[in-house]
Amino acid sequence: MFSRRLFLATGTAAALTAPAIVSARSLWRDYPFSLGVASGDPASDGFVIWTKLAPEPLAPHGGMALANASVDWEVAEDSGFRTVVQRGTFLARPELGHTVHVEVSGLRPDRPYFYRFTCMGEQSLRGRARTLPAAGTRPDSLKFGVAGCQNYEDGFYGAFRHLANEADLAFVYHYGDFIYEYRQPFEIVGGLPAAPVRQHAFRNLIDVADYRLAYAQVLSDMDMQAARVSHPFLSSFDDHEVNNNWVSMIDNWTMENGSSPDAAPAEVFAFRRAAAFQAWYEHMPVRRSLLPRGPDIALNRELRYGDLLSLQLLDTRQYRSDQPCGDGFKTECADVRAEDRTVLGREQEAWLARNLENQAQWYGLAQQIMMMSLDRRRRPEEPQKILNLDSWAGYEAARQRMLSRIAGLGNTIVLTGDEHQNFAGDLVHRDRVVGSEFVATSISSGGDGSNLRQGSDVFLANNPEVKFVNDQRGYVTCEVNREAWRTNYMVMDRVTVPGGTISRRATAEVAHGTPGVRMA
Ligand SMILES: [Fe+2]
Repeated sequence: MFSRRLFLATGTAAALTAPAIVSARSLWRDYPFSLGVASGDPASDGFVIWTKLAPEPLAPHGGMALANASVDWEVAEDSGFRTVVQRGTFLARPELGHTVHVEVSGLRPDRPYFYRFTCMGEQSLRGRARTLPAAGTRPDSLKFGVAGCQNYEDGFYGAFRHLANEADLAFVYHYGDFIYEYRQPFEIVGGLPAAPVRQHAFRNLIDVADYRLAYAQVLSDMDMQAARVSHPFLSSFDDHEVNNNWVSMIDNWTMENGSSPDAAPAEVFAFRRAAAFQAWYEHMPVRRSLLPRGPDIALNRELRYGDLLSLQLLDTRQYRSDQPCGDGFKTECADVRAEDRTVLGREQEAWLARNLENQAQWYGLAQQIMMMSLDRRRRPEEPQKILNLDSWAGYEAARQRMLSRIAGLGNTIVLTGDEHQNFAGDLVHRDRVVGSEFVATSISSGGDGSNLRQGSDVFLANNPEVKFVNDQRGYVTCEVNREAWRTNYMVMDRVTVPGGTISRRATAEVAHGTPGVRMA
């Protein structure tokens, strides 16, 4: 019970997390910072720092009274808080689940900072954040992490603890599926029913209290907290933050060929989307500009790392046309090539086009769904090409528009999640390699996995643009300098037991000026 107040005492984390004040006379019935601390959306002069008051995280309202609470915060240059450079007080409100989002600014560029919170005599863990280099500078190098897809029921979060211990990450891009919205009553292992590794505290999620419960359970995990306390996060969402494979105002969970009478109509689904977005906002270290407006949220945004990297965080869910051909893994239907169908929506496409006019050494597109259009067949007897219709492959006209934009840029890397497998491959436009795509596996979704999924020989033979595939859990780190981009695929031996060891399964490399993946 007390361990959460003490150290996350391994590797790099040891320096930044000290014991909180353990007051025998606390007014709190239990520790109010039970869901940890986080930082995010770094800029050259600051970042967001986050926490939430939740003495009983799984209870209604986190065990809080329905009143405002003042939370003090401090930002220091050193992990011992001898040089505090900013401090203030934030009013945590019950309307937003007593969460704290402080947008810290006025800091110096390209250096680490430390932060902590205090409320009525109890103190949080100390977190570490980092500012970005100033605009207009020419940084030599950058290392960052990519992670996501963390189904709580499928596995433990040992990969997050290893990610916490990665040295010198400027930030972690989280591509989404932070929560999953359903409970699996059983899994099938070797053809037999088996209990999930751990169980969600809910059956399904519909209103904001439900979604809050899902975040409370995930954030109660100490490996998860270790990652968030150690690195600033650049947070996105994918589908499971709301509902499986939703797009726009379309509730896809019960949709079969787009016509199920059980699916919520758009005006009803809007309530669920608003509840889901509110809970997502509350629990992510993001700026106030991402506060939802009803069922809408301004998710897409830009991160510039001097002139070395222009990273565009894209939203591939809110503005998208419905998946064609009834969604799923299927052969192509006419809708796949329909000109009017979109992934990003017209406004976001225009926003992206404007942002890509800057002169960066590398352009990164941080997004959710695979951009390579791959043949998903895994058995030689399957007669026709099969596409993943929830990926860019289901939106060929939009995909071609994006690839022609990438072709004009040069030096573009696409970072992707969603697939629960690792991939490295080339983006091909009119028979020319125009960019590279690195797909990061999952933290836990899919369970232990293995090096190669069954049928990978057929898959690789059908998709020559794919240079690497792997079906283990873990995360990715990207090491970027002016000459090359290296993506390291870090994989776990097991996630169905606590702990687990990490190893570098492969490194994929792209030379600046020469699009195309080489396996190092
Ligand atoms: Fe996922």
